Formats: sequence, C-alpha cells, structure tokens
Amino acid sequence: MKRIVVGVDGSEPADRAVDAAAAISVATGAELILVTASVLPIVVKDELESYPQAEPQARQDLERLLVDPRPACLYRARGRAAGKGVKSIEALAVIGDPAEEIVGAADRRHADLVVVGRRGRGSLESIVFGSVSLKTMQLAKCPVIVVP
Ligand SMILES: Nc1ncnc2c1ncn2[C@@H]1O[C@H](COP(=O)(O)OP(=O)(O)OP(=O)(O)O)[C@@H](O)[C@H]1O
Ligand SMILES: [Mg+2]
Repeated sequence: MKRIVVGVDGSEPADRAVDAAAAISVATGAELILVTASVLPIVVKDELESYPQAEPQARQDLERLLVDPRPACLYRARGRAAGKGVKSIEALAVIGDPAEEIVGAADRRHADLVVVGRRGRGSLESIVFGSVSLKTMQLAKCPVIVVP
C-alpha cells in the first residue's frame, strides 16, 4: 500500500473517511492524498473563457481570486490526518467534477485505494449513497472504501 486518495468536502462522513484512511496509512506507511474538487459557476466560467487571451496574467489573477486554492476543508482534513499520526500528506484542490477528479488523481498517482464517505454535505436523507460516492465507485479502477 503506497498511496491512498481521499475525497474531502468538509462533511462528517468525509471526516470519517479521513480517519479510516489515516488508520490504514499509519498501519501501512502509505501516503495520503487529500482531494477536494469544486466546480466554477457557469457564469464565471463563461466570463473566464471570454477573457482576453492577450492578458494571461490578468486571467491567472482572476482564476486565483475566484478559486481559493486552499479550501478550509483541506486544512481541516490535513490536521485531522496528521493528528492520527500520518507522516506523509498531500492536499490537492482541483476544479472539476468531484468523482472524476478523485478517480483522475488516483489514476495519475497510481493510488492503491480510494476512500470516500457514503454521504457528503448534501441533505437528501432518503438517498443511501451520494452522487459523488456512487460515481467514484462506478469510475474507479482501484478498490474503493466507502465510509458510512
Ligand atoms: N467536492 C468534493 N470533493 C472531493 N470529495 C468529495 C466532494 N464531494 C463529496 N466528496 C466525497 O464523497 C463523499 C460522498 O459525498 P456525496 O457528495 O456523494 O454525498 P452527498 O453530498 O450527501 O450527496 P449529493 O452531493 O449527491 O447531494 C464525501 O463524504 C466525500 O468523501
Ligand atoms: Mg455532495
């Protein structure tokens, strides 16, 4: 077990996913890769796309302003994992579809395992699986642990 990717969204199930992944990491020495994904609002995306190509720096500045590269949930998850004794932690904030980004990060880093919560910050209590956990299970090419 070399690398474990964990999807975090600041929810309690995601915290439990971090705890479970941290326990496996401590037992095996695997690196933890925490991933949080956010999607830009369509309006903002359109604006960015029509931003003058001649001003790449301004465009970069705008992107940086619109997308906080260090979301609070990543900091919290990192602190949580470190507190459980995990030695090696990487935190990635990415833009895109969460499940696709979680699986994409796992593929690129040749992760042995993906860990997600069963539910996240969504509020439809009647649904057993959230859309991100479900899609992650559907797309993943490595084992997935889903934490209740
Ligand atoms: N934006 C995200 N970035 C990274 N991981 C995420 C993100 N959203 C959810 N996850 C991961 O997926 C798990 C399940 O969350 P999911 O979003 O599927 O459930 P939900 O919020 O209850 O439902 P839905 O979002 O479909 O309304 C979370 O515990 C977390 O591990
Ligand atoms: Mg959700």
